Amino acid sequence: MSQAENRPWMDPARSPDERADLLIAAMTLDELIGLVHGPMPNLLDEVPTDAARGAGYVPGVPRLGVPAQNATDASLGVANPRKVREGDGATALPSGLALASTWSPELARQAGAMVGAEARAKGFNVLLGGGVNLTREPRCGRNFEYLGEDPLLAGVLCGEAVAGAQSNDIVCTVKHFALNDQETCRHVVDVRIDEAALRESDLLAFQIAIERGEPGSVMSAYNRVNGDWCGENDFLLNRVLKGDWAYPGWVMSDWGGCHSTAKAALAGLDQESGYQLDKQVYFGALLKAAVEAGEVPFERLADMAHRILRSLIARGFLDRPCERAEIDYAAHEAVAQAAAEAGCVLLKNEGDLLPLQPGVKVAVIGGHADVGVLSGGGSSQVIPVGGPSLEIPVEIGPSSAFSRITYHPSAPLAAIAARAGEALYADGQDLAAAMAIAGQADVAIVFAEQWTTEAEDVPTLALPNDQHTLIAAVASANPRTVVVLETGGPVTMPWLEDVQGVLQAWYSGSKGGEAMARLLFGEAEPAGRLPITYPKSTDDLPRPQVPGMIFGPPEEGKTIPTSYPNVQQHKGRFSIDHPEGAAVGYRWFDREGKDVLFPFGFGLSYTRFAFEDLRLEGGETVRARFVAANVGERPGVAVPQLYARVAGADGRETLRLIGWARLELAPGERREVEILADPRLLAAYDVTVPGWRIAGGPVSVSLRTNALAEALGGAVELVARTFAP
Ligand code: BGC
Repeated sequence: MSQAENRPWMDPARSPDERADLLIAAMTLDELIGLVHGPMPNLLDEVPTDAARGAGYVPGVPRLGVPAQNATDASLGVANPRKVREGDGATALPSGLALASTWSPELARQAGAMVGAEARAKGFNVLLGGGVNLTREPRCGRNFEYLGEDPLLAGVLCGEAVAGAQSNDIVCTVKHFALNDQETCRHVVDVRIDEAALRESDLLAFQIAIERGEPGSVMSAYNRVNGDWCGENDFLLNRVLKGDWAYPGWVMSDWGGCHSTAKAALAGLDQESGYQLDKQVYFGALLKAAVEAGEVPFERLADMAHRILRSLIARGFLDRPCERAEIDYAAHEAVAQAAAEAGCVLLKNEGDLLPLQPGVKVAVIGGHADVGVLSGGGSSQVIPVGGPSLEIPVEIGPSSAFSRITYHPSAPLAAIAARAGEALYADGQDLAAAMAIAGQADVAIVFAEQWTTEAEDVPTLALPNDQHTLIAAVASANPRTVVVLETGGPVTMPWLEDVQGVLQAWYSGSKGGEAMARLLFGEAEPAGRLPITYPKSTDDLPRPQVPGMIFGPPEEGKTIPTSYPNVQQHKGRFSIDHPEGAAVGYRWFDREGKDVLFPFGFGLSYTRFAFEDLRLEGGETVRARFVAANVGERPGVAVPQLYARVAGADGRETLRLIGWARLELAPGERREVEILADPRLLAAYDVTVPGWRIAGGPVSVSLRTNALAEALGGAVELVARTFAP
């Protein structure tokens, strides 16, 4: 018999759906069960030879020519937390918030393509990224992995990153579905929110990401939503994802996030991941028994397998299996550097202190700027090629099991020294020493850091370890002080008035130091805009305290430099209400009339832009046309943002980003721009339709340079209509 007759699923001329069905028809019950659950390979007594040693592994079916599934975390590069693959480094992208700050779908796609290429060359066919949880909690330890607080911006960029990664013929996983918006108590908390508010915010981000990126899989979140665990949440999985959105791929549980057999399988979970972390192996022998007893219909098991196989087959699983290959790390670092440069946000530049002139005398202070750049902790941790330049063990807290404070070896000091006349350095531990070098220099640059990690939130938006004192002291010694922030998210800045410059550099990845120096010295133009609001105080947040965070005495003798030893987490089950509903981030601050430190969408440039001649059209959606011009002396990137005021299902009007453009403009260049709004952002979600409802009538629309700065305004008439969810 020829292969075509013998193994018809190997025929690339057939559709992935057909091939999956042919394969399923040839599989035994045990083989099907084998597909829907998998271990963490490194915790197995014997690691299988075809395991790539990532976070997840599902054995193949050699009898039928089916390869193993090898999954790795990959939001910010091919991760290697706890160095499970000894000596295996990878290219680190800047953090998700940095990528979101680019507002650039093209850069997101390139970044994804780079990570996907690296993952494939390391033998992985399933990537556990991208993360698109909205920033409801600016203290969330994982904000650095995500793309900010706006459903349109986050959704579009996540979708592009996924499409880029999947262009390498591997599967991506959009996560964590849904509302895993804080790390504190992520394993016990029940997030309460009404359906319409959820559809208008977090779910919309997922929906847009999934439409654009067509990820092969989606990962359910750890928490519960409205009473049910996300991994057995019929509303989220069956009704919204697979029903309303007709999602054809598979849903995998987060590691330790599967809680049952029949309930989970019937609610729409298709695969149990990292089963050693669950209380029992729910989708192994227990699922087999449930199928045999008729508790879970065989058709449901076949559907689980179908979804897994069709996604994998659509990405070359059978035709182009992943094989190890050489990686061009220099080319990949260039992608990481481009993203880092475009993702740094210039927040303050008084008196045009920046860009610095080559040859100035610079005092570089703090932030381990002499060794490298900080990265965020947890499962997304990338280990740099050649190893970290500094690692600080974490002794306490939930992240200590798998996090180390890790620096990538792209030292800002070296990159600055290469451009400055002279660069002095002080580590910032000794205030007098820092002030002394600041006083001798033309300019002082303080590198301030805030380490954040999966599994923990920060209790405060203040910089840890008295860095506020350090910055104020340096600024008192030299008013020409610039602060570079290497943080996981927004921080407060009590010293803002005392310094002349602030550059938000986030976690900047493999070439972070180089990127920062190029921006500081004007070899690159600051182009980033904030994807997240900087509150003035945690008192202004919907939840002034992180729910479930408990403050206790530090553990004896166990202090570490950048964590919060007195923070613990509530252990029992409890729920969090979301009175803000869909008013996440800037929508909340705008609606509540609260002042912010820096608004969503904010970012300075070394040049100036003008916007003119706004022409708005209504009807089914909003179309805006206008002219953007660079009226300064340097090239630069303009990011005009279109907003509308729209009432959600709660009847309350909020400001919403409905579209944007990103334009690289030469000095004096003028360009005609058109932005077409996604109509879902002009609608309220109406559960009685069910679907989106545009009320119809006049809507105020404005072109802004950030959420608070209106450049041009107008109004349109929208047609009343409803459309599918
Ligand atoms: C994280 C996921 C990750 C998984 C596998 C979990 O702790 O929440 O984002 O993909 O581990 O490493």
